[in-house]
Amino acid sequence: MDTKQIQALDKQHVIYPWVQQAATDRVVMERADGIYLWNTEGKRYIDFCAGLLCVNVGHNHPHVKNAIKEQLDKLCYAPPIFATEPKSRLAQMISEVTPGDLNHVFFTNAGAEAIENAIKAARWATGRHKVYSRWRSYHGATAGAITLSGDPRRWPAEPGIPGAFKFFGPYCYRCPFGYEGESSCSQQCLETLKTQVMLEGPKTIAAIFIEPITGTSCIIPPPKFFVQGVRKLCDDHGILLVVDEVMAGWGRSGKWFGIDHYDVVPDIMVMAKGLTSGYVQLGAMVWGDRLQDHFSKNPFTGGLTYQGHALACAAGIANIEVYREEGLIEKSASNGAYLHERLTALMDKHPSIGEVRSRGLWACVELTRDRANRTPLADFGDARGNVMKELTSRLYGNGLFLFAKWDYIFIAPPLNITRDQIDEAVAILDDGLNYTDSLL
Ligand SMILES: Cc1ncc(COP(=O)(O)O)c(C=O)c1O
Repeated sequence: MDTKQIQALDKQHVIYPWVQQAATDRVVMERADGIYLWNTEGKRYIDFCAGLLCVNVGHNHPHVKNAIKEQLDKLCYAPPIFATEPKSRLAQMISEVTPGDLNHVFFTNAGAEAIENAIKAARWATGRHKVYSRWRSYHGATAGAITLSGDPRRWPAEPGIPGAFKFFGPYCYRCPFGYEGESSCSQQCLETLKTQVMLEGPKTIAAIFIEPITGTSCIIPPPKFFVQGVRKLCDDHGILLVVDEVMAGWGRSGKWFGIDHYDVVPDIMVMAKGLTSGYVQLGAMVWGDRLQDHFSKNPFTGGLTYQGHALACAAGIANIEVYREEGLIEKSASNGAYLHERLTALMDKHPSIGEVRSRGLWACVELTRDRANRTPLADFGDARGNVMKELTSRLYGNGLFLFAKWDYIFIAPPLNITRDQIDEAVAILDDGLNYTDSLL
């Protein structure tokens, strides 16, 4: 089929997520290798966002492909009541790299399903019904996960599931309490959360859900004392701490998991994306000994037809082998520091950059109309016009794919990107930012 034929079928039959179903000629992607994607016309794009921040080991990795092919010849699917070697091995490998006693793995097909199961697990294990999560967060598109999300994508799904409440986390560039500087601002966030929990009734709260480092709500790494304070608050009141590592996990932040920056062990960890780098879809909910003890005596009433899919688990094992053998976690930390330097240097040339935030190979460039006053450039919901649509179409035109919305440019390349490749991509971004400067 040629490009036009594919686009015609696409417009007639495919429903796209999050958008109005206007008939659009989409770029048709055909193949990928390493950090590059090619469309059907042979145009090459640098994938500066690892797909949807998931292809951590890079595209077309021979070790991952071979592992899937080998498993394909043995067994693709077995009902979830049976054990299989890839499922058992992957669960063991996950427990090796996750912190503390997170040794028990419930496989799902994606991140949102893992969140749904974490909501159920927390409610059943505590006998309480309320679940807390942060403003400026995203936990997935299914009923419970979207209700927990402190992001405008939740609005059309409201009222959502009952018993879900939001709190402010530290976003020191735009402190919700008007403070300047990290320490007072984040202290206020913690104190306000403590008050909220007290007023809400601590014994009614099953769990607090956090992304350890906020992802699609513009990459906000909170200070250590905030995350440690939330852990202590949970301990003081028998509330479970659920950490959503769907985006932050698997080396993205320069450590195995985002929570590893904080020396905190959650009661439940949720993961997906980099678990298989998207080669086959897979998510997981991982819990510690306390929950294992509870569910050893009580049933966990939830399951999925494709749970622990053999091909997905084989892909997961191969991914962890690649992370280890190629030192990708370390590369994310060291090349992430290089990326941070290169992006920060752009601030000298481009007044439309307000702040650069990053951890590992995971960065956000926040744009502003006025650096001194931090006035947003596009504003919430891109209220001031199609700024990001125009910027991304210029970047795509120059062969750079990344994810951008409102005032935020997200950069999260495959973890095996080289410094030369980072330079190549940053040069295209540099050129694109002349457009956002022109709006000031
Ligand atoms: C932090 C976080 N949690 C959950 C999800 C939902 O994961 P999925 O799209 O695999 O359901 C996402 C997706 O981007 C995410 O970033």
